[in-house]
Amino acid sequence: MVQLTLPKNSRIVEGKHYPASRSANRVRRILVYRYDPDSSENPRIDRYDIDLDSCGPMVLDALIAIKNEIDQTLTFRRSCREGVCGSCAMNIDGSNTLACTKSIFDIKGDIKIYPLPHLEVVKDLVPDLTHFYAQYAEIKPWLDTETPRPEGEWKQSREDRAKLDGLYECILCACCSTSCPSYWWNSDRYLGPAALIQAYRWLADSRDEATGGRLDDLEDPFRLYRCHTIMNCAQACPKGLNPAKAIAKIKSMMLERQI
Ligand code: SF4
Ligand code: SF4
Ligand code: FES
Repeated sequence: MVQLTLPKNSRIVEGKHYPASRSANRVRRILVYRYDPDSSENPRIDRYDIDLDSCGPMVLDALIAIKNEIDQTLTFRRSCREGVCGSCAMNIDGSNTLACTKSIFDIKGDIKIYPLPHLEVVKDLVPDLTHFYAQYAEIKPWLDTETPRPEGEWKQSREDRAKLDGLYECILCACCSTSCPSYWWNSDRYLGPAALIQAYRWLADSRDEATGGRLDDLEDPFRLYRCHTIMNCAQACPKGLNPAKAIAKIKSMMLERQI
């Protein structure tokens, strides 16, 4: 049998407990992953008991309440608070999602919160997205044209504009890529569903004039073809998008240009 030696600080230990005040009526327990790679301490799970009567309804509200009122050392990302910036993506109750659009009341029992899986942790719930953003940059996320710029905007027919629906709404939260088994094991070479739905967003754009070059860049056994249609990505997307479908459309474009 293969024997693995785990790094010394890879074991998650039980952390601190912060009980609710005695006057709290509706107490809910939140279990939060805590880790500071700069310290020599193991990751731990802290338990915070919060009073739902003094907290908003979303998981992000609970995290903000913890940070403001219980433990200022807790670190997480958030910005818009309404599901459009993608920065509060984390693993809640076993699924990758946005803390600001996930209701506390949709979760039964203790609420377990971890950072997005299979990424290095900067601190607590903040994953290192450097590589993820570099892969996004690789797909050249801009309109690439040779035609001289028009005076006003680049116009599209209604039908062509509609082809971007289901693509342009991607907020780059990384929930899909970090739920994709192929990405877990090959993220050094496989672009993953988030970068690929973005790649298709530009391939589907009637105004873009770099289709051939974009497909050439993706023609690789790893960058595109590591998608095995497992569909975790579509299930994870908090915006209801389907990266697997976009990936299948890129593969069709590859085939069509060979005919
Ligand atoms: S369908 Fe493709 S991209 Fe989506 S989770 Fe599966 S392997 Fe990953
Ligand atoms: S496709 Fe969905 S899950 Fe993936 S990055 Fe975009 S918004 Fe997030
Ligand atoms: S805070 Fe912007 S998506 Fe949650």
